[in-house]
Amino acid sequence: MRLALSLALLTLPVVVLLPGVWALPVGGGAPPLPADTLPEDLGSGAIPLGLDAPPPPPPENPTTPEKVALGRALFFDPRLSRDESVSCATCHRPEHGLASPDARAVGLDGRRGARNAPSLFNRAYGRSMFWDGRTSTLEEQALEPFDNAFELDLPVATALARLAGDAAMVARFAAAFPEDAESLTATNLARALAAFQRVLLNGDSPVDRFHAGEYGALSDAARQGLWIFESRGGCWRCHSGSNLSDEEFHNTGVAYLADEPDMGRFFATGRAEHESRFKTPSLRGVAETAPYMHDGRFATLREVVEFYDRGGNREAPGLAAELVPLELTEAQIGFLVAFLEALSPAGEDGDAAADRVGEP
Ligand code: HEC
Ligand code: HEC
Repeated sequence: MRLALSLALLTLPVVVLLPGVWALPVGGGAPPLPADTLPEDLGSGAIPLGLDAPPPPPPENPTTPEKVALGRALFFDPRLSRDESVSCATCHRPEHGLASPDARAVGLDGRRGARNAPSLFNRAYGRSMFWDGRTSTLEEQALEPFDNAFELDLPVATALARLAGDAAMVARFAAAFPEDAESLTATNLARALAAFQRVLLNGDSPVDRFHAGEYGALSDAARQGLWIFESRGGCWRCHSGSNLSDEEFHNTGVAYLADEPDMGRFFATGRAEHESRFKTPSLRGVAETAPYMHDGRFATLREVVEFYDRGGNREAPGLAAELVPLELTEAQIGFLVAFLEALSPAGEDGDAAADRVGEP
């Protein structure tokens, strides 16, 4: 009885808050195409404060300014989708931390996929792509949305034929791949998209400034949250390294909160012990990318922290051993949230900057 009641209490806010359910446009169109509002000087080579140097690009696809610019243009180009209504940025939105605001990403004809579209920042550090890690490189990943019925749903050859009719595009491919006699190819399309995504770095947050010795960069609450994250919270066990991800797969039990659990990593490997494990996401810029988890189940960072405070989903088979009930106080939950919010780049007129004024 008590269990049934608490389950009802648990599911109620989730149902009400799943944004994707309500965001579906009546008539079922794709969401509006986003404009390119990313900083102009992407790919200058500078590594933001707090990040390790990313692994080098594959030898066959060195990063060049021409490729990055071409990949950037392609990323925002709806001609890559069946009815020219969807671009990569439809689901990886610049104004939303390069993630989707819908719990489950909405694409062609307003159709919804099975999972949340993650942020594309810091994918240069990724050892695998997708929540289940089913592809290993950005080059490999870039052609997948073409085959997906709700993403681009267009044979790559048709996309290339469309681009071939655009003299400016043809010239850009030629400039980006000068060594190729025929430069407008699927391989080069993937390479340009990958080169662009490799320079999307997110660092220089208040937390990084604090680590670099700027004590006043963090509020008291965020400082205490950092301490919990790195000690009894145990968060660092999986959200480790400068990108706050071990690039491994873990079962937090989130999948088992759904009627039909997503099998996660099992799809990629077929190994029973990988059931419902998902890749540890980076936490950089996480305040911008709600909702959270592979199915966008939690609308706020507070809900995520409360989930970890319960020790994850204790009912889930194969739950990660690292997860234990934390017994945090309300205030401590707030501290962890404040810490997570301080993982976004510090704006010139942001709170963090304001806090710094007057600090010794
Ligand atoms: C209709 C929505 C949609 C469109 C359009 C779309 N994506 Fe995605 N993208 C997703 C979703 C959902 C996922 C997570 C899927 C999964 O893990 O199974 C994802 C995952 C990714 C990932 C893996 C990220 C990670 O953390 O491992 C990359 C990289 C990516 N997309 C790049 C692109 C590129 C490049 C394009 C355009 C060629 C594109 N996406 C178009 C929804 C979309
Ligand atoms: C056992 C490894 C592990 C530990 C420990 C862990 N996490 Fe996670 N975290 C994950 C995985 C895996 C996911 C994705 C789960 C999913 O979508 O099913 C995740 C997701 C998240 C997300 C959502 C990110 C997004 O973009 O959707 C946040 C926020 C988060 N964790 C914060 C924390 C905090 C705070 C702690 C400590 C209290 C913590 N994590 C401890 C592995 C872990």
